[in-house]
Amino acid sequence: MVDISSAPLLALLLLLLSQTQILPATSDGGNKTDILSLLQLKSTLIDPLGALSSWNQTLHFCQWQGVTCNNETEQRVTQIDLKLNQLSGSISPHIGNLSFLTHIILNNNTISGEIPPEIGRLTSLQQLVLVQNSISGTIPPNLSACSNLTMLRVGNNGLSGEIPTQLCNLMNLQLLQVAISGTRPFRHHHRNIVDASPIIVIAGERPHN
Ligand SMILES: *[C@@H]1O[C@H](CO)[C@@H](O)[C@H](O)[C@H]1NC(C)=O
Ligand SMILES: *[C@@H]1O[C@H](CO)[C@@H](O)[C@H](O)[C@H]1NC(C)=O
Ligand SMILES: *[C@@H]1O[C@H](CO)[C@@H](O)[C@H](O)[C@H]1NC(C)=O
Ligand SMILES: *[C@@H]1O[C@H](CO)[C@@H](O)[C@H](O)[C@H]1NC(C)=O
Ligand SMILES: *[C@@H]1O[C@H](CO)[C@@H](O)[C@H](O)[C@H]1NC(C)=O
Ligand SMILES: *[C@@H]1O[C@H](CO)[C@@H](O)[C@H](O)[C@H]1NC(C)=O
Ligand SMILES: *[C@@H]1O[C@H](CO)[C@@H](O)[C@H](O)[C@H]1NC(C)=O
Repeated sequence: MVDISSAPLLALLLLLLSQTQILPATSDGGNKTDILSLLQLKSTLIDPLGALSSWNQTLHFCQWQGVTCNNETEQRVTQIDLKLNQLSGSISPHIGNLSFLTHIILNNNTISGEIPPEIGRLTSLQQLVLVQNSISGTIPPNLSACSNLTMLRVGNNGLSGEIPTQLCNLMNLQLLQVAISGTRPFRHHHRNIVDASPIIVIAGERPHN
């Protein structure tokens, strides 16, 4: 069995090992959380055109197709743009760990599943563009935590339910495009959103005054 006298040494070793796990950067720079989150994102997407073929460890993740990082020094992922790639599959909740993200652009694919509520953890997020996919479920109220959101475009999907009233808290929102089956008119039920000029609300493809 374990020799008691070696326990402190073992504890120290475990401490050192656990610290290696949370080292700031990957071996070639950047935050390890970012690369792990990107790989998780890739793992739940189906990619018939090979749009994610550059997402391998030969290249630094800041060079992966559709990925933009803030700068050479920090190398944190700020943008994911994978529009028009015939991607299907779903959006991994791990996207909520890419804490520097400002843009998620995934429009014109065939992505299904739901909008992960974990996106609400992305407080720097400015644009969430999921138009023209096969996403179902409801708009998560958690998106109201994305206080820097200026553009929320989730129309042309299979979303249902109503627009969460919590989204009224999004003071920077300029464009909200939704198309939700069974949604009653915005003017009546989402007065705050509509009244908060200059937001442009587009239900389906029809502008609403
Ligand atoms: C890496 O990023 C994660 C998530 O943003 C954060 O919790 C962690 O502190 C970062 N690590 C370093 C060393 O910056
Ligand atoms: C990794 O991506 C690069 C750039 O697209 C490509 O040239 C290389 O063949 C890929 N490596 C693997 C192992 O897939
Ligand atoms: C890199 O980006 C971070 C945060 O976006 C910023 O604080 C830092 O000054 C930038 N560094 C350089 C060298 O631009
Ligand atoms: C990333 O996100 C997932 C799902 O939201 C969570 O279970 C996991 O603990 C997170 N990992 C890190 C390293 O933050
Ligand atoms: C993307 O989807 C929109 C909304 O359905 C559609 O109007 C547009 O033509 C599509 N763009 C392309 C390049 O397919
Ligand atoms: C959604 O927001 C609620 C309340 O802020 C929080 O408790 C919950 O953990 C969030 N869910 C996710 C998946 O982040
Ligand atoms: C939100 O945007 C403002 C103005 O661009 C910026 O100063 C602030 O740091 C941003 N907040 C977050 C959490 O990124």
